[in-house]
Amino acid sequence: MKTITSINALRKELDVLRSKKKCIGFVPTMGFFHEGHLSLMRRARKENDIVVVSLFVNPTQFAEGEDLDTYPRDMERDAKMADEVGVDYIFAPTSRAMYPDGYGTYVENDTISDLLCGVSRPGHFRGVATVVAKLLNIVEADRAYFGQKDYQQLCVLKLMARDLNMRTKVFMCPIVREKDGLAMSSRNVYLSERERMRALNIHVALKHARTMIQDGERRPREIIAEMKEIIKTSVDKIDYIALLSADTLESVTKLHGKIFIGVAAYMGGTRLIDNTIITVK
Ligand code: PAF
Repeated sequence: MKTITSINALRKELDVLRSKKKCIGFVPTMGFFHEGHLSLMRRARKENDIVVVSLFVNPTQFAEGEDLDTYPRDMERDAKMADEVGVDYIFAPTSRAMYPDGYGTYVENDTISDLLCGVSRPGHFRGVATVVAKLLNIVEADRAYFGQKDYQQLCVLKLMARDLNMRTKVFMCPIVREKDGLAMSSRNVYLSERERMRALNIHVALKHARTMIQDGERRPREIIAEMKEIIKTSVDKIDYIALLSADTLESVTKLHGKIFIGVAAYMGGTRLIDNTIITVK
């Protein structure tokens, strides 16, 4: 596995591989890998000749006062883990290379960026779409892989790829959970043992929502009310509990078709998100 920091050097390598008709799979990340990241890399490994993983803590997707400076980083450990799952290239550009002086071009989705996580993280999806568009332009991958945990991000990026006629196909991979059900996240390291235990109720509430639907409940408000009861005493603040159309992220009055059930909540200063998707007949 090679680690490359220069945009031009990566392009040169990948141009040679493309000329040999190699198909390129890409996993964009901000590093501090866990099983969730590794599952994306393994899928990319299975479906492509070459696997590129980017490792870049993107400043433009952090809102004022968020954890950009303290975001966990461990490049050496990440490189070892990526190597073990068969990644060919780690691309780790500097902020200066990605956003040179005078940088002024951004990608903005204005249909689904201002709801759910976009409400409490203004500008977040603009930063995500911008950096992923730049990375896709650099890597020119055939396929790019993202986790379901950041479902709204995935929807924004799918729309971006469609709307801007990008060649790269965007794929969703399932949420990877700890044994006890907690969705894996690089930010879980911020949680104390007690907070981590309390955070489990987010997953409990999502499972409860699925059970209610399986038992015939079709009213989103009733489900949200019961989920709130489960979560409210465990977390410090609920940001949102939402049941929406999984295809459009639009609200529904009666559950039908593919439904996204999402939760965002604060545990101390840590914002946790989790979701599940269910098809309602
Ligand atoms: O999901 C992430 O880790 C980031 O938002 C991404 C897609 C790598 C863009 O910085």
